[in-house]
Amino acid sequence: METPDWKNLSFGYVKTDYNIRCYYKDGKWSKPEVSTSEYIDVHMAATGLHYGQEAFEGLKAYMGKDGKIKLFRWEENAKRLISSAEGIKMAPVPVELFRDVIFQTVNMNKRFVPPYGSGATLYIRPLLYGSGAEVGVKPSSEYTFIVFVTPVGPYFKGGVKPVNMLICRDVDRAAPLGTGIFKVGGNYAASLRAQIAAKDRGYSTSIFLDAREKKYIDECGPANFFGIKENTYITPKSESILKSITNMSLLSLAEKIGMKTERRRVPVEELSSFSEAGACGTAAVISPIGKIFDPEKNITYEYCKDGNPGQFTMKLYNKLVGIQNGDETDEFGWMTEVA
Ligand SMILES: Cc1ncc(COP(=O)(O)O)c(C=O)c1O
Repeated sequence: METPDWKNLSFGYVKTDYNIRCYYKDGKWSKPEVSTSEYIDVHMAATGLHYGQEAFEGLKAYMGKDGKIKLFRWEENAKRLISSAEGIKMAPVPVELFRDVIFQTVNMNKRFVPPYGSGATLYIRPLLYGSGAEVGVKPSSEYTFIVFVTPVGPYFKGGVKPVNMLICRDVDRAAPLGTGIFKVGGNYAASLRAQIAAKDRGYSTSIFLDAREKKYIDECGPANFFGIKENTYITPKSESILKSITNMSLLSLAEKIGMKTERRRVPVEELSSFSEAGACGTAAVISPIGKIFDPEKNITYEYCKDGNPGQFTMKLYNKLVGIQNGDETDEFGWMTEVA
């Protein structure tokens, strides 16, 4: 059996040995079923296809120096999937079922967990969608929950590097009282026009503003935003952004290392007063921001002037990555061994 080339993995799909599926019907979840197929049989009238009844999660398994495989804060992903399911009227996946299925999927695909020190990890993708047939707009009475895994390379090959971002005013990924706080597929579809436009102009991603007033920072593509001012970690509070588990963790770590923290609305103009800025999420942990361009005001906000991420950004990054890899003490109890 071939093992992946750990050094050349990207953040993409690689086939693994097994995935696990559960079916919700007549008000209850089936027992998990193991599959070796990469395909699913979907009813052509499934609500997941027509009315966007679909939510997902993303978390990682890490191989420690001691050879133990551990997951980072999986309960938070379980809770967020429940919140997403409730947000679009799907049957929620109970925490214990979520746990059993992700642990079993990782265990069955152990040979795909990248070795300690490679910087690569095993990405876990839980997926929930309405699988029952409906033609009128209403919630399905049947759901499918699938978990697959795929090994992914380090987000930054050859060290953490600053990225540039473009402020977007002509696309909203989510409405103020819409589904932005849920991890549902529709939000990502809605963000694509802005993402492609930003990429076409040479930026790594777009920064969305609040949809109501276009005055405040919402999110950076599929990641939360933070700025550093003196000794303070500042991150937006908004009714239309996803509650990032990475961001929650960075807030705790910032306090732990003696920084102040603020979660509040962040006006666009405040970008000029930050000494450092970054985007945070499971994929990259932190993407330090080099420059942010505001096309309407023709202003460029610059951070990392010497080409390197700032000291607070790197301190937080190293601390969190250290905990995830098992090099730092897990003082918050965030890691769970996949026994
Ligand atoms: C829209 C959006 N915001 C933020 C995040 C970061 O969240 P997390 O840190 O839980 O990965 C993600 C990724 O999951 C996302 O898709």
